[in-house]
Amino acid sequence: MYNFEFRNPVKILFGEGKIGFIVKEIPVGSRILLTYGGGSIFKNGVYDQVVKALQHFTLIEFGGIEPNPRYATLMKAVKIVKSENIDFLLAVGGGSVVDGTKFIAAAANFPGDAWDICSKGAPIESAMPFGVVLTLSATGTEMNPFSVVSNAATNEKLPFGSPWVYPKFSVLDPNVLKSLPKTQLANGVIDAFVHVLEQYLTFPNQAEIQDRFAEAVLLSLLQYGPDYVFKEFDYDVASNTMWAATMALNGQLALGVPTDWATHTIGHELTALYGLDHAQSLAVVLPGMMEVMRTEKHEKLLRYAKNVWNLSEEHDEITIDQAIVKTEEFFQNLETKTHLSEYNIPEAGIEIIIEKLKKQGKIHLGERKALDENRLRALLQMRY
Ligand code: NZQ
Ligand code: ZN
Repeated sequence: MYNFEFRNPVKILFGEGKIGFIVKEIPVGSRILLTYGGGSIFKNGVYDQVVKALQHFTLIEFGGIEPNPRYATLMKAVKIVKSENIDFLLAVGGGSVVDGTKFIAAAANFPGDAWDICSKGAPIESAMPFGVVLTLSATGTEMNPFSVVSNAATNEKLPFGSPWVYPKFSVLDPNVLKSLPKTQLANGVIDAFVHVLEQYLTFPNQAEIQDRFAEAVLLSLLQYGPDYVFKEFDYDVASNTMWAATMALNGQLALGVPTDWATHTIGHELTALYGLDHAQSLAVVLPGMMEVMRTEKHEKLLRYAKNVWNLSEEHDEITIDQAIVKTEEFFQNLETKTHLSEYNIPEAGIEIIIEKLKKQGKIHLGERKALDENRLRALLQMRY
């Protein structure tokens, strides 16, 4: 196991009725900017609960943060932060609203061109404090220091991370998930599942605790995911899925182990260029990743096949083949497409994606930097 240091400062308020408790988490007298997306919070009662809890605070609202939050939109919020002397941000929404709010928090205190935070990895020296009321379980952003922002002007979708953008608190009330459409529920399960694999499906590093935690999260998602997506709302199913998604990307699975993240890097390009939802892009890329990296990932693929899918054939390669098939079927059974052609992406898109990644210097991907241009091409052709 590699050396590590770990501190996750995010206070989690989990469960029914917890939205009302945010009043105790925000400094008295704060001028709050409430950030939200396209309006789902008005239809499902979340907005009303938040406003009721914060009736004694000054609340200013900023809506319209789009899925895959855009730099230009977020900079409008930064202006409001300054003109209205805002001192606390409250994100009420899914991963996009939370990520967008992280960017606003950092950009408001950033001296130069704030896009440099994403495009050049410019260091963040401070950020505004913010809290989260999560309405969509998927990304883990509610308990991590990462954010992904899109720039429509340059067709880029780029991540950044900084300890400054850990939320001060995050409310996870499973009841808010009731109003999510089936596609978003499926997206959440798939995103969380792939987050675990990005941190688990690499090479063994004698980190048994992390490996077994990862398997526990994967098995929970397999157990609860289909009911979460297709059956009538059940509080316990939603609770387990919600917590699984948070645990999948709050840092603990990555401690002391190598991590991959190539599936996400390629997936972000599919979203930036062709508009696939984040999880849809992952469902396309991941089976190809397992296939083209099967030699490097051999031991962990075998462990995954055995411990997660209960597969054990006479020949290892057949066991691994079956694990890859089962993984893709899991996504398909959640009614999510797994091929580029199903999204009507032109075949010429494959070279466009490769060129874009090359330009960003992202052509040696994965835990061993072994995913090169040829393998990337093979992967994308395989997934066409
Ligand atoms: O905008 P509103 O009206 O709120 O509607 C949203 C949006 O249309 C809707 N929604 C959210 N909660 C709802 C609801 N509809 C009904 N009832 C509710 N309770 O769902 C739609 C999608 O929302 P979005 O926030 O975009 O989804 P998600 O949470 O999947 O976030 C995706 C973004 O997070 C990034 C992705 O790249 C993408 O930009 N990620 C962030 C990560 C991180 N910060 O650690 C890691 C992830 O790998 C990921 O990259
Ligand atoms: Zn993801």
